[in-house]
Parts: sequence; C-alpha cells; structure tokens
Amino acid sequence: MKGYGEEILRMEEIVKTFDLGGGKTLTASDHVNLSLHKGETLGIVGESGSGKSTLAKILTRLYTMDSGRILLHGKDIAPLKGEEFRQVRKNIQMVFQDPSTAFNPKQRVKDIICEPLLNYGLIKKADMGEKAREMLHQVDLPEDFADRYPNNMSGGQRQRIAIARALVLKPEIIICDEATSALDMSVQKTVIELLHRLQKETGVAYIFICHDLALANMFCDNIMVMHWGKVVEKIHDLSEAKDPYSKKLMASVFTIEEGKNKVLSDELFG
Ligand SMILES: Nc1ncnc2c1ncn2[C@@H]1O[C@H](COP(=O)(O)OP(=O)(O)OP(=O)(O)O)[C@@H](O)[C@H]1O
Ligand SMILES: [Mg+2]
Repeated sequence: MKGYGEEILRMEEIVKTFDLGGGKTLTASDHVNLSLHKGETLGIVGESGSGKSTLAKILTRLYTMDSGRILLHGKDIAPLKGEEFRQVRKNIQMVFQDPSTAFNPKQRVKDIICEPLLNYGLIKKADMGEKAREMLHQVDLPEDFADRYPNNMSGGQRQRIAIARALVLKPEIIICDEATSALDMSVQKTVIELLHRLQKETGVAYIFICHDLALANMFCDNIMVMHWGKVVEKIHDLSEAKDPYSKKLMASVFTIEEGKNKVLSDELFG
C-alpha cells in the first residue's frame, strides 16, 4: 500500500438533519467521523441517499451542520466566518459529476480555469492566458483550448478542465463527487489515471465519492461505507468487508456482474 502523510482533515461527530415538514425529519449525517491524510484517496461509497454528498456539502459549507467539528490541520474551522473561512476554503476544492452545468457557457476556458485565482485576487487578467495554458498542460489538454468555449468539448475534456480549475489554487483536498460517473469506461480510466498522476505530483488528498464499488476499490487507499447517514465501516479493501451491509452491497455488484457476463456469454455463444 502506498504511504501518505500527516492528517490534514478530521470531521468529528457530524450531524445533519433535514426538516421534511409535517414534524418529520431525516438524518442525512448521523455522527459521522472522517479522517484524511496528505496524499490519501479516501473513498465514500453507499447507496443513493446514504449521505455521501451531504458530507461533501457540509465540508464546503453548501450545507450547515447541526453539530460536529471540522478540524483542518487541527484547527476547528466550523466557527470561522467571512474572510477567515474564505481563506480556509481555498484549500478544499470540488469536482462534480457534470461540469457542463458548473461552467458559464459564455466564458472561455482560460476564464473558467483562472476564475478562482481572480476571485482571490491572485492573478492579473493579462496573465490568465499563460496560467490557463500551464494548467491545461498539467491535465493533458492542448494549450490552445485556453481561448475556446467549453460547450463543444467532450465530457472527458470538460472534466479535465474542471480538474484544472480545482487545482489552480493548489488545494490540499479535492472532493470528487461522482466526478467520473458520467463518463464512458475508457474515458473514465484516463481521468482516473490523471487524478492519480496529479496526486503523485502535488500530494493532494482526494475524497472520492462514488457509487461504483469496483472503481472505488481500485482507486482508493481507504473506503468508508455509508448507509442511512451512518458510517457502516472503514476498510482498506472491500474484500476485507466484515459488516453485513457492506457484504450485501458487494454481493449486489457481483450478482449484477454475473448477470451481465451470463447475458454476454449467451449472446456470444448462443
Ligand atoms: N436539501 C435537502 N433537503 C432535504 N433532504 C435532503 C437535502 N439534501 C439531501 N437530502 C436528503 O438527505 C439524504 C442524503 O442525501 P445525499 O445527497 O447526501 O445522498 P448521496 O449518498 O449523495 O446519494 P446519491 O448517490 O444519490 O448522490 C437523502 O435522503 C436526501 O434526500
Ligand atoms: Mg450524491
């Protein structure tokens, strides 16, 4: 197993409930604990609605939690406000499933990639073209993409642009929420290889939210299995799963695979 560095992030006893009206509440995050180290890839898997994205949204403050602590390098960032939080937030970037909805179609690629730098006053407009070309090079895209618009690019190319944008502030943590799920298998593989290479180069840690158990198992150093807002277990490899729920999740994957293989072999061999 690859080595990774010191603990960067610790989320402790995170609770988030949603008021569903009529006196009903839903606990989307039920005393969740999470720890992330420099250069680590932490997978979060679980069925739809298990609370994976809720955790990501709490970390990036798209949602406010009911209770819990979020420690970045040991410092509780939950009470931080305004500019202090904005500076911390620089360190935690996100890549979503469908970057096309996150991009403004009227923006050129160089503006999309450099917007975070501009927001933090870290770049002059005149330098954006050069910076964008450097970032495009890092994600294996042609440098002349800088002056193009993203709308006629492929899903894989747009996702590379989203990764370049996430990287531009040199964050320690990137959250990938189903970031490769919408891509074809072959394209998915090249994006995963890119994420892997970028991690080796920069030491960035990933929180990799994914419903594809086989992919999570292949790519992640550690995996957190979630069910109904709770962490069921944390394991290095899904084959080590002990909890009946994780085993059931895995069994459902293998049943589907067996089914698929059967259909395929029936097609091929009659
Ligand atoms: N803004 C909201 N208001 C009410 N309920 C919400 C809200 N956001 C999430 N939930 C509920 O919280 C639970 C967890 O949702 P979450 O989006 O975290 O799941 P998920 O594991 O990311 O699922 P998926 O794999 O489908 O993306 C779900 O039952 C969802 O309906
Ligand atoms: Mg989700």
